[in-house]
This record gives sequence, structure tokens and C-alpha cells, in this order.
Amino acid sequence: MKRKAKTVEPQREIAINLYRSVWEVRNDGWIHLSDNANRLASAEASGGDVDLARQRVAETLDLLEPIESYWAFPGRQGFQRLLSLFQEREYGGFNDLVHRISRALSSQSYRKSFVSLHLDEESAVEEEERRETEVRVDRPYFEVLIVDDLSAQEEETLRQRLRSMRRDEDKFIYELVVVPSFQDALIAVMFNFNLQACVIRYGFPLQSRYKLDILGQLLEGYEDEDLEILPESERGCLLGTKIAQLRPELDLYMVTDVSVEDIAGKLCENFHRVFYREEDDRELHFSILHAIEDRYQTPFFTALRVYSQQPTGVFHALPISRGKSILQSHWIQDMIQFYGLGVFLAETSATSGGLDSLLEPTGPIKVAQELAARAFGAKRTYWVTNGTSTANKIVVQALIQPGDIVMLDRNCHKSHHYGMVLSGAHVVYLDAYPLNEYSMYGAVPIRSIKQRLLEQKRAGKLDRVKLILLTNCTFDGIVYDVERVMEECLAIKPDLIFLWDEAWFAFAGFHPTYRRRTGMGAAARLRDRFRDPEFRQRHVQFKEQFGNPDDGDERWLDTRLVPDPDRARIRVYVTHSTHKTLTALRQGSMIHVYDQDFKQKVEEAFHEAYMTHTSTSPNYQILASLDIGRRQVELEGYELVQKQLDHAMALRERIATHPLLKKYFRFLATGDLIPKQYRPSGIETYFDSEQRWARMEECWHTDEFVVDPTRLTLHIGATGVDGDTFKHDYLMEKYGIQINKTSRNTVLFMTNIGTTRSAVAFLIEILVKIAQDLDERNEDMSPPEAKLHQLKVESLTKRLPALPDFSHFHRFFRSDTGIPTPEGDMRKGYFMAYNEELCRYVTMPELQKHVASGQEIVSAMFVIPYPPGFPILVPGQVISREILAFIEALDTREIHGYRPELGFRVFTDDALARSTDIPAPDAMPVRIPAFKAA
Ligand SMILES: Cc1ncc(COP(=O)(O)O)c(C=O)c1O
Repeated sequence: MKRKAKTVEPQREIAINLYRSVWEVRNDGWIHLSDNANRLASAEASGGDVDLARQRVAETLDLLEPIESYWAFPGRQGFQRLLSLFQEREYGGFNDLVHRISRALSSQSYRKSFVSLHLDEESAVEEEERRETEVRVDRPYFEVLIVDDLSAQEEETLRQRLRSMRRDEDKFIYELVVVPSFQDALIAVMFNFNLQACVIRYGFPLQSRYKLDILGQLLEGYEDEDLEILPESERGCLLGTKIAQLRPELDLYMVTDVSVEDIAGKLCENFHRVFYREEDDRELHFSILHAIEDRYQTPFFTALRVYSQQPTGVFHALPISRGKSILQSHWIQDMIQFYGLGVFLAETSATSGGLDSLLEPTGPIKVAQELAARAFGAKRTYWVTNGTSTANKIVVQALIQPGDIVMLDRNCHKSHHYGMVLSGAHVVYLDAYPLNEYSMYGAVPIRSIKQRLLEQKRAGKLDRVKLILLTNCTFDGIVYDVERVMEECLAIKPDLIFLWDEAWFAFAGFHPTYRRRTGMGAAARLRDRFRDPEFRQRHVQFKEQFGNPDDGDERWLDTRLVPDPDRARIRVYVTHSTHKTLTALRQGSMIHVYDQDFKQKVEEAFHEAYMTHTSTSPNYQILASLDIGRRQVELEGYELVQKQLDHAMALRERIATHPLLKKYFRFLATGDLIPKQYRPSGIETYFDSEQRWARMEECWHTDEFVVDPTRLTLHIGATGVDGDTFKHDYLMEKYGIQINKTSRNTVLFMTNIGTTRSAVAFLIEILVKIAQDLDERNEDMSPPEAKLHQLKVESLTKRLPALPDFSHFHRFFRSDTGIPTPEGDMRKGYFMAYNEELCRYVTMPELQKHVASGQEIVSAMFVIPYPPGFPILVPGQVISREILAFIEALDTREIHGYRPELGFRVFTDDALARSTDIPAPDAMPVRIPAFKAA
């Protein structure tokens, strides 16, 4: 169809990028507008400086105008009304209307009831009463985006038509946002978190009146001219694809005037339905509501609520069910007072009554898990009621048989190390790059991973390498280029399986920038890539150029490897501590699976592993919370994650610019946490005064590692207080601020989806108070105290112990009779240590003496200092000089596996004496000599 001829206006730049933040700018904009409108009205009434007040109002209106064109309230027309009042210099009426809109926005009352934009109070009340049929109380509200180049009159007609279809029994209520172009649709999807559905109609042009920097990246690879000449149906499809990349949860519809039968067959998978012109408005309305209901449903939570209202007699276990044992008690009534009765009515030990069984789900749990899989982009999802500690063990046990080789980040959570023991894996520990100056580790470079894989290839053991296990993101917020890691590893071993421990990253699937660096996001991208003929071509070219070099050839490490799409299998597992970053009760976790070979190779073993670790009495409240948490992210995940990001950015910006705070504190930036060689973007910090936060997007596209800005590592070396003391004595005891992780000179803060603007302000206030206390302390110091303080600052900022790499497994625990490789059988060491006769204790001084004289001493235990919390020694590992130096320099209160009165538990020489036929450790290539160190 022919597009309407349009006069092309020059584009106006929107002075905002996505990171910091359109919503804050909008909120603040309305507050300023209210203040200035008030001033303007008063100036006019009292004969004051009208021009100045007018200019201020004009500036704020200018800022708000583009933003408001993407929201339903007050909407483009409401905003136009304001502008006309302002232009006609009706300042009294203008002021009243600004206040009414501003109040409705800040209280969000527009979601609950109709807000009239009539100037005169009486007419406004009358209109609101007339529209009372639109009572929205208890009906969740959302907005629907219509992409169509409509006149104001046409827009109003469409609005009325869809409104007229509302029925009392509708569970939800929506309003329309109409945008005229392709680019506007994308901006609306990014700006407006009230949107839940998008209807792409016909005849819309490409360009917006507004220009937004981030659009360039989103439309990378598409020239404006390419888009201009796209046929109608393809333009709509492309828009659908782009919207789905940004916010896959949105329901997409197409309304077309081309033959629907033709289009329906060609429509991309992202569309729910296609309609022919306006003939199906009613169907469209029902479809929109139905699709929201689909995300809103919580099968297990609903079943539990129904169950809790049924009269039942309890003749089985669990006296607490229905609150019985409490209600009859004289002594524990406060339990009900505190928790309320609901939670106990929902307690049952029965799997009957439609409540399904977690171990063999066939009813609501099964459906709820399927919905979770959809939400998190998995092929299948399993709920776990005792944390990711258990989720990790289930996955490892399902995938690994004794003797299989697993490559594992040494700094990963302890559940993985114990998982290795349980499964009997032979472990190759991967070393993350150290950040000695902050006493923490980064992540494992792709070069080291490839190096280890090639080492196994050379030794002819690649078939035994089953799994690579990495933490994404790390506790400190280092995020991998997940797609690249998998792609390059699959080029070396096409059926390799990946387990991404995303305990801290469950929220990441609900924001476009984060999503591409999640296990599930990357798996989906790889699937699309492997199906793409262009990628196949790329692989052919790569093969021609790369040839078939020897496994020890440096080129393997220096070249970006391209896997063969016909051989590579996508086998990805992710574990989430849903409870850590989303709404779920403590211990609520999920396993997400995207494994092409699951049915054929894993399903039975997975079932057994799940049975091994899952309680026969899983906590129903945890399960219900996982179901509700999933509903929340499918309906408001994008908003919540974006706000979490905004709060983090605000916090970073404040600390960086506050004169007193800068003196003692500094949030570590990308340049601090990621060495240069892993940052091709060259960007040191996401923030700069000109581009604000726009650079984050660039790093996240190009760099090997990036920092999750919502994990805020505060460097406190300049305070002269170590991390642990700062956490306990300053933050917790004095100001009640809870944090979790510290290093010698840092403390880690996090924003999450529950963080508010006031919480951010509170933290800044506390840090200012602490800085003032520190100033006072420093001023009152005697000269000897000042000297001591100086030494402490130096020890926390300059003299930090080098973080040791994993040493190696003793040959007794290795099986490498041919070409030596580093994997070790930890399970053998773990169980050998049960035998008292094979172990002894050595004190630190004795150990230092033995190790200095070249004696091999082998740990019988996991030794884990908190912080940093990773095992510095594992069973079967040879104790190195570097490890002892590190332990000695730690000022940590807790070292698990070390008994101060006895020392370290190690194996006796006799116990290890039988291991003569295996090469000595110095013959083992901790680094392959042919390769340069990573
Ligand atoms: C990386 C990582 N994985 C797994 C876990 C264990 O998670 P959960 O507490 O849900 O058992 C943690 C806990 O801190 C962790 O940091």
C-alpha cells in the first residue's frame, strides 16, 4: 500500500539516554514544572517577573514534550492542552492543570481511576463521575502501543472504539499510546514500562521527530534507506523482531490491509496474531486481555490459595498445617500474630487436593514451571527449594559420571566443589585473573579456557571433557561474554556442555543489555546464529583461512574461533538463586535448561539427580513465591531492572562528585576491575560528563568482560579501616546497613529490584556521616596515632598480598599416565581424609619450613577463608609457597578447614607413597610451554 506523503521535519535530539534515566527525568521534570507553573501564576497575579518564570516553564515543557508522547497519561493530547494554555498565557488554568496531572502521576492514581483534564473543577468532577464506569480499582492497568500514523481525530476514534469494548468482567484495563513511526515505536518500548502489548498497524513511516542516541545501536546493520524500501509486511515484521529483542515479554499483534492469509504464513514467530484492518477490533481487544491473563496466571499459587480455603481434617503429618498446633497453644500465639493465618492455612504435607508433586509434577507445578521456562527463555525449568547450592549439585550430578573431566573456575561457589566430589568428576581448575590491589579475583579469560581445552586435546582426552562451569556474574559483578565463550569452546569441542552459575543474575533476563550476556540469552542467540546461512558461510571462510594447525599452535589462542554450525550442539544449563535478585522466598531457586540433547541423553539422569537432592517435603510457600516472582518479572521485570540500574548509576554518580565522599570512598569502575587486554572498547568508566551513561552499551557489545553496574564495590582503603571492620562496626552496628561481601579494602553494595530512591539517598547520607566521623577522627589524632593510621592506609592500599593461582593436584590424585594434564580426582582425596590414619595436622610454622625445603605437603581438606570465600586448598592439592604467603597475610576472622590449635589437616607421606608410576608435578604443564601465558 502507498504510504501517505509526509513533510520531513528535522529530528530533535532527546537529551536522555537509557541509563540515567528517562523515568527520573520525567518525575523530576513534573516536579519542576509544578514549581515553576506556581511561580508563573503568582508572578502574574502579583506583578512579579513573569518573563523569568515563563522561560523556566518553557524549558521544562521542552524537556517533557518528547517523553510524554510515549505515555498514555496525560498523553499527547493532554500535553497539547497544557501547551495551548501556556501559549495563550492562561497561567492560572495552566497551573491548576499541571498540578492535577503531576499529582495523578506521582500518586499513580491515573492507573486506578479516570483523571479529567477539564480546567474547571466542576466539569472535571462531573466528567470523572460520568466515567465512573471505568472504575479501575483492583484491576491492574497497562498500556497498549499502537504503531500507526494517525491524525488526532483518527486516534481518538480508535481509542473510543477500543474503550467501548470494555466489560465489567474484564480483569485488566488498558489505555492506548499511539506512535506514528518505526523509530517512535522502539523509543516507546524502551521508555514506557506500562506497555504490555503492541499493535503494529499499516502505513507507518520510519523516522521519528525525535532522535535518540541508543537507536543507532539497535538498528545496527540497517541503513535508513534499506528500511525505507522494505515492503509493508516486512517492515512490520522487522519492527516486531526488534521489539522482541528489547522486550520479549510484550505481546505483539499485526493489523494489516494486505491479505492476512498471505501475511500469516510469513509472519515471524514473535507475533501473537494478525488481524485484517479494523474488522476484528473486538477480537483484538479479547486477544490483548487474554494474553495478559496468560502472564498473570500463577497456577501453583492459585491452587494453593484454593486449597487453603477448603475445609479439611488433618490426619497426617505437619501439625502446623492450618495453624492447628499454634491456634491451640497457650504459648506460641505470637507466631500467628506475626505471620498471619494465611501462611499456615496454605501449609500441608499432602500432595493431594490438586497441589501436585514437585518430584513428579503433572498439574499446576508442571504448568508453572513451563511458564517459568518461557519467562526466562529456557526450554525447560525446574524449581529447587533449597537454593542454588542444591541446584548446582543436581545439574552436575545429572551431567557427570565418575572420571569425566570438568573445567571449573576455582573461585566458584563451594557447592560446585562439593558437587565435583559427589559426582566423582576429575577437575581441571581454571584460574581467574587476579585483582591483587583489591584482594579479589576477576573471571576466567577465554584464552585460558581454550588453553586448557587444547591441552586435553593434545593428550587425547577431549572426549572425557564434559562440562565447563563458570560463574556469571561473579559476586563482584564481572560478567562474561557468554556467547563468545561458548562459540569458541564449541569450535574445539562441539558437544561441550556449559553450566553458568547465575545465582546473582536471575534479574538479567529482563533487560536487553543484560540479557545478551546471560546463559539463556546467549543460547537462544547461538541457535539463531547456527541456523543463519551467513554464519555457515563465515564458518567456511574461517576454515579455509585457519587451516588445521597443530593443537599447540598459538593461533588457536589468538584467533576468534568459529564453530561448525552443523556439528555444534547447544547444551546450556543455568542456575538462578531467584531469591537473591527477584521476588522469591529464601532458598527459592531455578534450574534452566537449553540443551538440544536433553531428551536423548540427560532426561533420565536428571530425574535421578533431582530425586537425589530434592526433599520429599518441599516448602510450598517457596514454590508459590517462585510462581509469583515469575508473574512479576513477566509483567514488570523490565521496569524493575531498569530502575535498579538507575539507582546504581545515581549512587555511583553521587559518590564520584561529592567533595567529602570522594576523599575516602571510590566505587571501582570497569577500568579498575577489568584489565586493559579484556577491554577492546578502551572504556574505563561507563560515566562521562558528556555522554553520561551511554558508554555502557558500547562495552557490553564489545568487551570480553564487563562490570554489572548494580554491584557496587566501594574502595575504602583511604579510610584506614579494613573491609570486615567497616562492615561490622561502621555500617551494621552504627547505622543498621546490611551488606554481605567485603575484601581487605572494599565493601560491596548492591541495588536490587526492591531498592528505592529514598534508600539510595539514605545510603549517601550514611556515607557522608561516616566520612564526617573519619574527618573528626583524623583531626583528633596524636602524631603517633597519625603515623599508625598512615601505615594502616598504606597496608590497605599498597601492600596487598598477591592472590595465588591453583597450585596442582598431587600425582596420587591424578590419572595422567600419558601426556600430563592437570585434572585431579578430588573425591578420592575427600574420602581418603575420612581415614584418620592417613592424615595428620601440621602447624603453620612447620608447614612453612617443609614447603621452603621443597617438601610436598598435600591438603586433606577444603580450606576456605571468608572473605574471599573460595577454597584456597582442596583435598589432594599440593600446598605452595604462594598459598601460605597469602594465608599468612589475610586478616580474616574465619578460615574453614583450618584449626588454629592444630593447624592444617594434610595427608601423611605413607598415604601418598604408592603414587610412583605417575609423573612428578614438575613434569606437569601447569602452563603449556608452547603457549605464552595468558
Ligand atoms: C555464585 C554462587 N552460586 C551459588 C550460591 C548458592 O546459592 P544459594 O544461597 O541460593 O544456595 C551462591 C551463594 O552465595 C553464589 O554466590
